[in-house]
Amino acid sequence: MSGTTDGLDLIIFVALPAVAMVLAIVGFIHRYRNHDYSIVSPSSQFLEARRHFWALVPFHYGVLIALIIHLLAFLFPGLLLSWNANPFRLYLLETIALSAGLLTLTGLCTGLARRLTSVTFRRLTRGGDWLLLLLILIQVLTGVLVAIFHRWGSPWFAAAATPYLRSLLFLSPDLGFVAAAPLLIKIHIANAFILLAYLPYSKLVHAIVVPLFYLWRAPITYRWRTRR
Ligand code: HEM
Repeated sequence: MSGTTDGLDLIIFVALPAVAMVLAIVGFIHRYRNHDYSIVSPSSQFLEARRHFWALVPFHYGVLIALIIHLLAFLFPGLLLSWNANPFRLYLLETIALSAGLLTLTGLCTGLARRLTSVTFRRLTRGGDWLLLLLILIQVLTGVLVAIFHRWGSPWFAAAATPYLRSLLFLSPDLGFVAAAPLLIKIHIANAFILLAYLPYSKLVHAIVVPLFYLWRAPITYRWRTRR
């Protein structure tokens, strides 16, 4: 490995996660202490409901399934590896993961189109919201591309990414196999840390309170009161 690659790996896998963790912890504490009522994502459903549904519902179900698979690989790597020892089960898991990624991407693109094609939504979308959407797009797109071009992601996650991520939690980064990962996976991991750092400062902060009931609650009904 060249000297520059080593330097870049240290930035991606050591410096970036350290800065991201500090920014996330400071940001969460600050947001919770000073703006606890702002830990929500203001809904725009009352302005337009049809595309809102086709954007938000696929996106949230997709990302939820993809993140549950990530979490399983992180919490139970041994179990995931033995599940994948059987080719049928490996194909099944990878198909579910890729379908979840494609569902997420479809929802995200519908949401982006909804914002880009309406003057009202463009006016309501602040710079920080566009930045958040761009980071989520990079995360989901690189995830889907990894699932398509770098098989098999789920055993790789359990065997290589999990030991590395756990080493970060113990504040003793061990790059192991992740330094040898293809560029696409490196971008996916680096962007995840940037998302983590930006999370408490953005609308995405609502994810930490896990508002799952949104997925099955009845649509909100707004009644306007106007003077005669
Ligand atoms: C450092 C943390 C992360 C690592 C190491 C990681 C790793 C991976 C890997 C290896 C894949 C391919 C899985 C496969 O081929 O089956 C993948 C896919 C994906 N990732 Fe991540 N990921 C991380 C964080 C995230 C985050 C925070 C998101 C949130 C949006 C995300 C969203 C996705 C999606 C949507 C896919 C495509 C669906 C899938 O295959 O599961 N990832 N990720």
